[in-house]
Amino acid sequence: MNQDLSSYYHNRAKEYDKVYQIPEEQQDLADATAIFQQLFAQKNVLEIACGTGYWTEQISRTAASMLATDINESVIEIAKGRNLSSKVAFEVVDMFQLETEKRFDALFGGFIWSHILLQDLSKFLQKTVDILQPGGVFAFIDSKPVAGGYHDKRRITQTDAHGNTFQTRTLEDGTQHLVLKNFPTREFLEETLARISNDVRYTDLEHYWIVSGKVSA
Ligand SMILES: C[S@@+](CC[C@H](N)C(=O)[O-])C[C@H]1O[C@@H](n2cnc3c(N)ncnc32)[C@H](O)[C@@H]1O
Repeated sequence: MNQDLSSYYHNRAKEYDKVYQIPEEQQDLADATAIFQQLFAQKNVLEIACGTGYWTEQISRTAASMLATDINESVIEIAKGRNLSSKVAFEVVDMFQLETEKRFDALFGGFIWSHILLQDLSKFLQKTVDILQPGGVFAFIDSKPVAGGYHDKRRITQTDAHGNTFQTRTLEDGTQHLVLKNFPTREFLEETLARISNDVRYTDLEHYWIVSGKVSA
């Protein structure tokens, strides 16, 4: 079974956008869109792990500019097919290898926190601080383990020694993947982000959580 996250998303690229058609999640998507469009209005946003560009399209409607990045060229090719303005640029890059020039006053990551190993979170937070100007805004959104849903905790098939949790997923092409999917609690998110921000805000939607704040100067 494949255990590489990047190749999982490469294989999943063409079917990925189905996650944005789930009827029960439409209200959350609308609420999150309104939050991000307000938070990132007139900002120069770096998006990490942009995938097929669902949030790129929503956020770019109000942002001043957007650089959308992902480790996989295949998802970026799909994102480029969206109806995007010329203020959006794309780059294929591993978020852990992003250059640390402080060009951005905002950073966004959709559904990527859950795919970061617990032991890599410090490195990830340091990258966030290095990339953003002092006082720069960040926001992350990810899945809650809603009972009976796709992210029901009963779908976790493995837990490692660090406490990282994994799901076994089968794609439409028949390939099987062991996928890292962590479900942080509100307390964990607030405690972890307090290391880089003193105004962390947690928004509790039905299927997703959002955390946002400004990096401490
Ligand atoms: C769950 S998808 C989220 C896509 C998009 N942000 C969204 O919310 O629709 C996770 C994305 O993370 C990307 N990814 C995984 N590891 C990465 C890394 N180290 N650096 C950049 N992107 C990465 C995958 O290619 C995939 O597109």
